[in-house]
Amino acid sequence: MKVVTAIGEMRSCSRGWKSAGRKIAFVPTMGFLHQGHLSLIRAARKAGDVLVVSIFVNPSQFGPSEDLEAYPRDLDRDLEFCREERVDAVFAPPEEEIYPEGFSTWVEETELSRGLCGAARPGHFRGVATVVLKLFNIVSPDLAFFGRKDYQQFKVIEKMVRDLDLPVEVVGLPTVREADGLAMSSRNKNLSVGERRQALCLRRALLRAREMVSEGETRAAAVRQEMEGMIGREPDARIDYLEFADPETLKPRENLRPGDLAAGAVFIDTVRLIDNLLL
Ligand code: PAJ
Repeated sequence: MKVVTAIGEMRSCSRGWKSAGRKIAFVPTMGFLHQGHLSLIRAARKAGDVLVVSIFVNPSQFGPSEDLEAYPRDLDRDLEFCREERVDAVFAPPEEEIYPEGFSTWVEETELSRGLCGAARPGHFRGVATVVLKLFNIVSPDLAFFGRKDYQQFKVIEKMVRDLDLPVEVVGLPTVREADGLAMSSRNKNLSVGERRQALCLRRALLRAREMVSEGETRAAAVRQEMEGMIGREPDARIDYLEFADPETLKPRENLRPGDLAAGAVFIDTVRLIDNLLL
């Protein structure tokens, strides 16, 4: 397995694979890999002839008061996981390689990225879209794999690829969960034992929302109120947002129907966790 830190070297690897007619599958990550990442890596391994994983904690998608410093990192452990999964190349550039002095061009999707996490984290999806476009330009993948745990991110990337005619096929895969249903996330590592117990409240509230809608409830306000009650019972939980939206346009919905997106973000003390499901 190659570990590549320079853009030029990554490009020349990709150029070699392309000219040999090999299909490049790509999984972008911020590292601290878990089973959610590994499910993408395994799917990509099967779908492509060569597999590239990037590991880069992208500063431009974190707000000034967010957890960039606290974001967990362990490159050696990540490389071990990648070796076990027969990854061909890990692209793990230093920050200056991606954002050199004077960097000033940004990519912004302006519709799907407005609500949900976009409203709660201004500038977040601009940072995501910019780094993903750069990574696509560096790696030249034929296929790129994303998790639907970050549902809005997946839709924003899909839209960017369509709008900008990028020659990449974007694949979205289901959320991988812990045995009790908590969505796997690198950030779960920052939860204490007591917080870990409380962290399940968002998943439980989303499941309750689905149940209410399946029993015929259509009023978003009533479902939200019930969810707020459930989450409010946890002493360290604070709701960032709970929203219902059209799963394609991500426009908010007041009258719910089965198939609508329910998505939320909850702080457990300082750790921000997200989850979603289709009602
Ligand atoms: P990161 O949070 O490391 O996630 C990398 C990929 O793994 C994303 O596509 C994400 O949706 C997926 N993923 C994370 N947890 C998952 C889970 N429990 N089940 C399934 N897939 C899961 O998302 C990012 O990094 C960054 O924003 C990035 C796209 C790399 C751009 O910086």
